[in-house]
Amino acid sequence: MKKLAHLSALTLLPFVMGVAQAQDQFIDPNTLRPSLDPNRMSNGLARTPQMGWNSWNKFGCNIDEKTVRRIADTMATNGMRDAGYEYVVIDDCWHGERDANGFITESREKFPSGLKTLADYVHSRGLKFGIYSDAGAKTCGGKPGSLGHEYQDALTYARWGVDYLKYDWCSTGTLNAESAYALMADALKATGRPILLAMCEWGNNRPWEWGKKIGNSWRTSSDIRDAWKGREKWSIGMTDIVDVNEPLYPYAGPGHWNDADMLEVGNGGMSDTEYRSHFSLWAMMTSPLIAGNDITSMSAATRDILLNKEVIAVNQDRLGQQGRRVRDDGDQEVWSKPLSDGSRAVILFNRADKPAEIEVQWPEVGLTRSVRASVRDLWNHKSVGNIAGRYAALVPAHGVIMVKVTP
Ligand code: GLA
Repeated sequence: MKKLAHLSALTLLPFVMGVAQAQDQFIDPNTLRPSLDPNRMSNGLARTPQMGWNSWNKFGCNIDEKTVRRIADTMATNGMRDAGYEYVVIDDCWHGERDANGFITESREKFPSGLKTLADYVHSRGLKFGIYSDAGAKTCGGKPGSLGHEYQDALTYARWGVDYLKYDWCSTGTLNAESAYALMADALKATGRPILLAMCEWGNNRPWEWGKKIGNSWRTSSDIRDAWKGREKWSIGMTDIVDVNEPLYPYAGPGHWNDADMLEVGNGGMSDTEYRSHFSLWAMMTSPLIAGNDITSMSAATRDILLNKEVIAVNQDRLGQQGRRVRDDGDQEVWSKPLSDGSRAVILFNRADKPAEIEVQWPEVGLTRSVRASVRDLWNHKSVGNIAGRYAALVPAHGVIMVKVTP
């Protein structure tokens, strides 16, 4: 009953805002508390890690309608949609002001047709539409956050046709993270529209311990930068993120993923070899695969990376088990990820500045030594034979060899 009262209040929201305080038969849904029921369930979305594109890594705050339309056109026609890329997500800085009733508006300067029309456009290309907000008073880019407007914002997103919300953590002060994310999850649920919830809390409050019952993914680290390694302000290199994200493998599974942040593939700060490692590692870690480059003008090498269907299949495998490092010899590593057909995806990863031979022994990936397994190279798209016991290969500096081992 209580829930129904909330819902009808939600439907009436545009009419009751402002008078809600004066007439207490109306509940302002923005004042509702989140459900912290330990048995609460998430929304059932993202049974495999979400795939798509996000504006931030390449365009930052300089995102506009024309760019988003071009991205949607490209994604629908360049093979990405067919390879599984689904969500076109506008990150920070789409916002206008809140209106007199507290409803959020889009910047009409940047999005002259409005976000509803843009969402329709993205949908007409067979894609889904995503947006960004923040649990605090302001987004990281200084735009209006959702604090105190959660139900109103969720309703607005649903009206626009939003399918995906990335929910950030700037300006949150002493807010409790679990409650804040649960509140927005409840608000999204109350709209009745399936909206994927990508929590972006950077791992500060160990979201892997409570996020599964609330949303579909949680960032585990500071922002990625387009570099092999090293911190710069609040951003860290690709391999730094790998080291934060890898140990969290037990927490990922269908519907709830460790998010290692958006891809930098194609943005120019790393070599193609390094980008192949980046993409392979994200696939192994069941991280969401969210392209972050300008896909309307990609090099052939970038296309080949983002469109490698054999590597994407490892990420999207329905078992949903996150891969992990099974051997660490300093700069040389072996990683394994069990797949639903009984095979394993394996990468030989060389962090060193010069090529190195790396070997995987079958027992390291859970196979008996004597078993013969077919080994297929997922970057060369070639079978390398039916092999017993071990597989070794020369791995380029900062590179990977990625194979599927099928007993
Ligand atoms: C934070 C997030 C980034 C991006 C920016 C936008 O830094 O972690 O992914 O969304 O905010 O301002």
